[in-house]
Amino acid sequence: MKVLVVGSGAREHAMAWKLSISPNVNHVFVAPGNAGTRTFATNLPIFAEDIATLAMAAKRYGIDLTVVGPEIPLANGIVDRFQQLGLQIFGPSKDGARIESSKAFARELMHKHDIPSPEFKVFHAYSDGYEFLSKHEGPIVVKADGLAAGKGAFVCRDREAAINALYDCMEDRIFGAAGSKVVVEEVLEGEEVSVFAFTDGEHVSSLTAACDYKRLLDGDRGPNTGGMGSYAPPDLWTQELADNVQREIMEPTVKAMALEGTPYKGVLYAGLMVTPSGFKVLEFNCRLGDPETQVIFPPMRSDLLEVMLATIHGNLNNTPVDWGDQACAGVVMASRGYPGEYRRGLEVEGLDTLDEGILVFHAGTKRPQGNPSQVLTTGGRVLTIVGSGPTIADAREHVYENIERVSFQGCYYRKDIGLIHREVPNSRKVI
Ligand code: AMP
Ligand code: GLY
Repeated sequence: MKVLVVGSGAREHAMAWKLSISPNVNHVFVAPGNAGTRTFATNLPIFAEDIATLAMAAKRYGIDLTVVGPEIPLANGIVDRFQQLGLQIFGPSKDGARIESSKAFARELMHKHDIPSPEFKVFHAYSDGYEFLSKHEGPIVVKADGLAAGKGAFVCRDREAAINALYDCMEDRIFGAAGSKVVVEEVLEGEEVSVFAFTDGEHVSSLTAACDYKRLLDGDRGPNTGGMGSYAPPDLWTQELADNVQREIMEPTVKAMALEGTPYKGVLYAGLMVTPSGFKVLEFNCRLGDPETQVIFPPMRSDLLEVMLATIHGNLNNTPVDWGDQACAGVVMASRGYPGEYRRGLEVEGLDTLDEGILVFHAGTKRPQGNPSQVLTTGGRVLTIVGSGPTIADAREHVYENIERVSFQGCYYRKDIGLIHREVPNSRKVI
């Protein structure tokens, strides 16, 4: 089969790599891809948001399956469009993607179907939200309803911070139309874990889990980023917890989506807060996580292509998903200045010095015209370097031993990925 992966980050590199080792894949295309995907796939210079051109390319190159990394094309209906054109594609429809693209929709679904979640209220007008928050002391969470590149949730210490966040979303419209509705909810305390499953709209695969690190600096300090590292499996992820999450969250959510007339197919990603007294859903996403994918795909024993096709064809009950049992730690190398301003065009060195077994997933990289052996930076997050081993401590040691051999001017990475005791379990900035 010819497969097209849509996106350009390290998550998409990991997806393309995993598909490329499937015995039934003979060619991988990535749009737009990066210097890493170029070594084993054909990069097509098409942006992930450009659905019309992606569909044309899928026809032109005879693509048998398209797989989408990021949420924006899913929320904009790439799956519906490809299906109308008779093109096979993996992921939820536009209606299914509302589980991520509208936090109000997701909260109302969870409430209606008794899926463990915090108390919440939805506001359509600033004045109503203001009236509510004026009577609430805080702490409280204020969230823009729509997609905001992971920046739309504010965990607010007090009333003033909450009203400011509401104003930013609804009056200043810092997230544009995504802030026309706002969800206000109870603050949950505990440990965050990202849980993933494939679902064909009826059946849910076995689950896997990972933890990500959103803040720039060690000890979960500094600004929020697109993710500075991840590890799997989390310490708290026992078989008992997995069974409970399957029964109380994943299966009821898939059932609820079908009952609401918007059957959900693809990967369901539940961001959970786990406390000693139980777990609740922080958010649902309609796709794989970044940087979680970089640590859950390397150990996976099942053939990703086979699982994706079973998901599309409603056949997951006959296709067990074996996530493997190796531990993995992934450390993101970023450019100095990220997530603010940073330089581009810096040469990455040392990639050919790494131990066997170390995986490098590229994000903001390219190879210059005329010198395909050179790798230059083009983005803030440049690489995810992944080590593995029987335990997280082994995986962590493996990755940190190797990462020192890779460099570019001003490169930066966190030193505490996979250290289990996290000082600030709630990694979102408190304002
Ligand atoms: P979201 O945009 O809904 O994915 O939330 C992003 C992040 O905000 C989560 O990963 C948490 O760190 C934090 N967060 C969201 N909702 C809550 C909540 N109800 N209580 C505490 N933290 C939250
Ligand atoms: N790791 C967070 C996300 O992918 O949304």
